[in-house]
Amino acid sequence: LVLVSFSDPLLFMSTRTKKTTVGTIDDDVLAFTAGKDIVLDLQLVEADCLGSAAHAIMLSRMKVKPPVLTKDETKRIIAVLGSIREMGRIGTFKITPADQDVHLAIENHLTLALGDIGKKIHTGRSRNDQVALDLRLFARARLQEIMEATLDLAVTMMRWGKKHAMVPMVGRTHMQPAMPSTVGLWATSFTEALFDDLELLSTAYRLNNRSPLGAAAGYGVPLPIDRELTSRLLVFEEPVHNVMYAINARGKLETVILEALGQVMLTLSRLAQDFMIYTMPEFGYFTLPPAFCTGSSIMPNKQNPDVMELIRSRAAVVHAYGQCCRSILLAAPSGYNRDLQDTKEPLLEGLASTLASLRIAARCVADTTVNSDRLRASFTPGVFATDRAVELVGQGVPFRDAYHQVKSELGALAAVDPDEAVRRKTHTGTTGGLNFDLYSEYASDWKTGLASERRRVDRAMNTLMKTP
Ligand code: ARG
Repeated sequence: LVLVSFSDPLLFMSTRTKKTTVGTIDDDVLAFTAGKDIVLDLQLVEADCLGSAAHAIMLSRMKVKPPVLTKDETKRIIAVLGSIREMGRIGTFKITPADQDVHLAIENHLTLALGDIGKKIHTGRSRNDQVALDLRLFARARLQEIMEATLDLAVTMMRWGKKHAMVPMVGRTHMQPAMPSTVGLWATSFTEALFDDLELLSTAYRLNNRSPLGAAAGYGVPLPIDRELTSRLLVFEEPVHNVMYAINARGKLETVILEALGQVMLTLSRLAQDFMIYTMPEFGYFTLPPAFCTGSSIMPNKQNPDVMELIRSRAAVVHAYGQCCRSILLAAPSGYNRDLQDTKEPLLEGLASTLASLRIAARCVADTTVNSDRLRASFTPGVFATDRAVELVGQGVPFRDAYHQVKSELGALAAVDPDEAVRRKTHTGTTGGLNFDLYSEYASDWKTGLASERRRVDRAMNTLMKTP
């Protein structure tokens, strides 16, 4: 923010106030209230253009005489919005402190380019429904990418797990050696967790996929606004029905999305933690790809798992973002309050962090090697104790007697072959009973669903910007 302020020549003028679209405001007040919006809102340029295009089309079709916008005026607005969208993409669109946010920056740009036509764009809308809309459009696009990346990691873990499916690995409870397990069982436990996370993400996606546009300040306007039309143009499932809830849902939706992201990050944090333990030289079960480890500036010997460490901390950070939004909402009254602006950064950052963590984790896992000798060598006789006790039960010994008998002669299990032990368990979902076909089926169902949703949305957004 400081950097942005210094680069604004207006701040060096003697005047202590600035004329804005919404009043003459003290410079310090502008800086304080706009806060990080002038930087963060650069991420919302595309969404604001799409929402404004849909709004303009709706205004041009609204049954009032004379029409708020003619067909030709709408066409010109959409053409300028198209160029703003492009500037947003290449990073040349600017938001100044006097604009305060992306909404007024785009309105000002339209007015500069089109004069009176630009001044009409804000008919029947407020920045309150506009920002709620932008955030939903932005989150929709990001959630699509996040769901694709979650699926990608689930599939990576499945393929990697399948490749090493029957490599024995000591299963642990309390982190202590417990029972025979496999690399396949360990890896696909993450595949399944990620499938659950996908369900949560898609619930968040569905709740997010409704249009607040037309709610205006939260109480509608006395014009025949067609909320169904704008919702349809932006391919939302439907408008949020109650205009007041359309505004109150801001912040609430952020916590829902961050909760789903938090679940993904919990899965990733466990994955990262396991990787850090199992790649320690003392374990040596797996080796991280060297290009994914960083060295030390003083210790020539170091190979550090920084990627995994940062995934672990990002998980904490994403949870904190969720807590930040919940705290802002805790005592919030109904209706728009400026407090809501502060839920923007946690949402944008939470989405970005989760996506980046998923992508780097998938690349790291794919190139991680498995040291099967080290994995086999770590089996101590005790690891086979429970299986042995259960075996004795099969020969008619009551379980508690078998338990004590095995405990008193653990050394006798030294000769058990770990490969044999993991093959002997074949019931559903155990070391020898993993159904990789089932995982592939889930994965291909998700893949088809996500691809068709992405096509549907992309096509509609492109059509929208071409609509005369
Ligand atoms: N930048 C504001 C936000 O993110 C936009 C809405 C401003 N609305 C208002 N009534 N001041 O919340």
